[in-house]
Amino acid sequence: MEATIGKILISQQQIEQRVAELAGQINRHYSPGELILVAIMNGSLIFLADLVRLLNLPVKFDFIGISSYTGTESTGTVSTTKNLKIQVSGHRVLLIDDILDTGQTLHNVRQMLTQQGVAEVKICVLLDKPARRRIPIQADFYGFTIPDEFVVGYGLDYQEKYRNLPYIATLKFKPSPPAAG
Ligand code: IMP
Ligand code: MG
Repeated sequence: MEATIGKILISQQQIEQRVAELAGQINRHYSPGELILVAIMNGSLIFLADLVRLLNLPVKFDFIGISSYTGTESTGTVSTTKNLKIQVSGHRVLLIDDILDTGQTLHNVRQMLTQQGVAEVKICVLLDKPARRRIPIQADFYGFTIPDEFVVGYGLDYQEKYRNLPYIATLKFKPSPPAAG
């Protein structure tokens, strides 16, 4: 389906302000300890980049890539497309993602990290879309709760597009034109 930008749900300024507040919460929670941020590719990239520069803790960060399983009901194992290089066992980890939707992704990644022997794992997402949750999981830190709408921007994509928008927006879908002939 073809899509164009609908309405701006969260402005660039609102994001900037909220990310700073989140960084403050994280600083207070973990200070003066060390922290490893594990960010889920690719959607969390921009959020991580903004957030990490506002943390005044000794931090390391790394990315994990996991296969998409859109359309399946599976809550079983996920396959990784990029593994962590940093050793996380024995450390406190904060998982970073763009959005907590059904909960499958973060549930699975959290389980993987627990199996790797992390000391503790908490979750930080920019957006929380509780209406579609299928697994009971909550973010320890979150930016905004949003209604059940598909959104793009600030890392979030539709068919890999719109990740670079500095705001969060809804999409307007229109049916693809019928094929010629
Ligand atoms: P979950 O496993 O259903 O919680 O889905 C998490 C992943 O689905 C996110 O990391 C996003 O990549 C994607 N996703 C969920 N909702 C949206 C949305 O509204 N816009 C763009 N991507 C989304
Ligand atoms: Mg994602």
